[in-house]
Amino acid sequence: MRTHDLAVIGGDGIGPDVTAEALRGVHAAAGRFGFGVTTTDHDLGAERWLRDGVALDDAAVQRLRHHDAILLGAVGDPRVPPGVLERGLVVALRVALRHAVNVRPVRLYPGVTSPIRDLTPERCDLVIIRENTEGLYAGGGATVHRGTDDATAIQNSVTTTSATRACVDYAFRLAAARRGRLTLCHKTNILVEAGALWSDVVEWLGAGHPDVVRDYVHADAMCQHLPLTPERFDVVVTDNLFGDIISDLGATVQGGLGLAASGNIDPTGEHPAMYEPVHGSAPDIAGTGRANPAAAVLSAAMCLAGLGEHEAALALEAATAGVLAELPALAGPAMGDTTEGVGARIAERVRTVDPAALGDPTTSLMTALARAGGRGSG
Ligand code: IPM
Ligand code: MG
Repeated sequence: MRTHDLAVIGGDGIGPDVTAEALRGVHAAAGRFGFGVTTTDHDLGAERWLRDGVALDDAAVQRLRHHDAILLGAVGDPRVPPGVLERGLVVALRVALRHAVNVRPVRLYPGVTSPIRDLTPERCDLVIIRENTEGLYAGGGATVHRGTDDATAIQNSVTTTSATRACVDYAFRLAAARRGRLTLCHKTNILVEAGALWSDVVEWLGAGHPDVVRDYVHADAMCQHLPLTPERFDVVVTDNLFGDIISDLGATVQGGLGLAASGNIDPTGEHPAMYEPVHGSAPDIAGTGRANPAAAVLSAAMCLAGLGEHEAALALEAATAGVLAELPALAGPAMGDTTEGVGARIAERVRTVDPAALGDPTTSLMTALARAGGRGSG
């Protein structure tokens, strides 16, 4: 029997709560589709940092490298200064594991209400491919005369051809496996140096994909087009900070951060991918049962797709969407069920749901992910 070896970093706040439900769904899918899953917990996050001052060390990176994939819950805790875990753990892991690509689907599932009036599922099924290791996240900087009227801050941005190329190449392959449309999102009218590099790479690689239609949208204009005409987009490729921002907008459009999934991928397949909900650790509701585990479960579905378990991935996504459609609200007390209750309903449904329940699997993200590369994909 095929067995996939997962590393689990539950992390902080609601991270462990939603990750437990993601694993429940994964095990249920494994039982139905005939593969094995082993899991190993990794002690990283606020407690570890408070105990011994380590956000991420080389030994942890080496241990994580040996797994087939990683599931991350969420990190962040009021007892830890801002940035320590965000930069020192999440971003550091993305860089250490060469996750040049961050895949963030924006899909409105049937029965889920978008705050955009009259938006229908047929009009909202796109994927943001965010460069994940560079830009303003990687440039470093300096401040002189902090706290005085002369304070001067420099924050650099880094754009390399190699990471941009890896990211754009992945985006083209994903678009070719989906509806054949790729949109570059940048700010080429102002960030003329980095913008030109991105445009050049899209043009070069586009020559190898005559079947993919190319499009360009400025990042500010994207904040209008994405909510109002999401049907314009199939795959959107963008730099790290723009991707961070427009993916939160995308999450709102699809019903909220409680539904937004992501995968950090090394497209060469050398390092394991890491899947995580886009939402944070929400420490105020940790352990209360009020968090919706859907984003974590959908991230785990992407993980199964990345591992080549394409039918199981489709079933887990369809089961999650089916349960979401039954919930009176997507989070909090009005959700009408607990974190565990929702997770159990998803796991129950995954045993019988039609993997094609959400429509043609051939153009689905799960199918495209299984084809686009990364460790374990088919
Ligand atoms: C995200 C988060 C992270 C980011 C933080 C936690 C470092 O906002 O995954 O979108 O900025 O990338
Ligand atoms: Mg973010």
